[in-house]
Amino acid sequence: MIKIFGKINKSLTKGNWNTTLSSKNEFDDFMLKEIYEQPSALKETIESRINLNKPCNFNELEDIKKILGTFDHIYMVACGTAMHAGIAVKKLYEKLLNIPVTVEIASEFRYQNPIINKKTLAIFISQSGETADTIAALKLAKEKNATTICISNVIGSTITRYSDYSLYTHAGPEIAVASTKAYTSQIMLLGILAIYFAENMQSAPESIIKELKEELLIIPNKINEILNNTQTIKSFAKEAANKKDVFFIGRGIDYAVALEGSLKLKEISYIHSEAYPSGELKHGPIALIENGTIVVSIITDSNLAEKSINNVQEVITRGANVFVITNQELPDFDYNEIIHIPKTNTLISPMLSIIPLQLFSYYIAKEKKLDVDKPRNLAKSVTVE
Ligand code: G6P
Repeated sequence: MIKIFGKINKSLTKGNWNTTLSSKNEFDDFMLKEIYEQPSALKETIESRINLNKPCNFNELEDIKKILGTFDHIYMVACGTAMHAGIAVKKLYEKLLNIPVTVEIASEFRYQNPIINKKTLAIFISQSGETADTIAALKLAKEKNATTICISNVIGSTITRYSDYSLYTHAGPEIAVASTKAYTSQIMLLGILAIYFAENMQSAPESIIKELKEELLIIPNKINEILNNTQTIKSFAKEAANKKDVFFIGRGIDYAVALEGSLKLKEISYIHSEAYPSGELKHGPIALIENGTIVVSIITDSNLAEKSINNVQEVITRGANVFVITNQELPDFDYNEIIHIPKTNTLISPMLSIIPLQLFSYYIAKEKKLDVDKPRNLAKSVTVE
């Protein structure tokens, strides 16, 4: 059956990918190259969109401005890492727009009979723009009269042809199967979009918007700081490489990052791992902690730091080896390694806290002499449902 989805007005967009972006250059693997490309990729994503003295710039969205006030629910729908980018920005959207946000896995969304109508804004996130489940979910949202926006890295990809509005991350080609720069650039673009909406809806105090813009602009430099200091991550990765299980824990926004850190590890190192909200450990998973179990704890929210430390103490008591990633001045406790990352606004901290976790997975996979760019059983773009 052929379905017609109405007239779509699209302007011509020219790609700027070149052969340097598609070769490894001095790096051993595409994944490592793409991890190190994040500062420049994010600068491309930001490009002319953020200006401190003017509202953010999304020429493509002029038509949406007048109906922004009519949305009562936002869906973010995607698969894998792209779905984790949605989880990472949910709190930012809810804080700035005061509209509830539901993040859904595309293959689930389609079969849940989601409540969608013309007051729904549905955002579809896909690096490749070719993921079958995400495209099918987009078609469903369109049938039910939602306004649809897609976030893609590939100009002219299928998803951009079906969406009402297409926004590009401009992160450059991502070749390694495990996504890295696409994730951070999706969060960056979604973050700028949230600010653009808030500026047009006047739904958030100017001081918060100003602070977020200033912080977004210096994220690339802060990522560089982390990338220039990898020795501790390497040595902990060496210790973890022969383990069977790794737990990633965090509270609030740090749990969102734990999910992505755990996925990276599964994808390329073939080590079983779980991501858990720190406070939920005691309701089951703590039974799995034994002498030498690796627990990676992310602590970037000052309001939740004390509680997170209590949870870390609980696993240390049971023999876990703990690796802490934090931007806080923490009191002394019995962790094995600690990585200090630069501070930023908590709502956008995933772009920084994910970097050590990407490197952690990468170094473990290298230690195990695995093919990091092409892990077994996985494909870069999954075009079957
Ligand atoms: C595959 C890849 C993942 C990716 C997911 C979604 O499963 O292995 O790395 O996150 O697809 O891909 P997309 O292109 O839609 O972002």
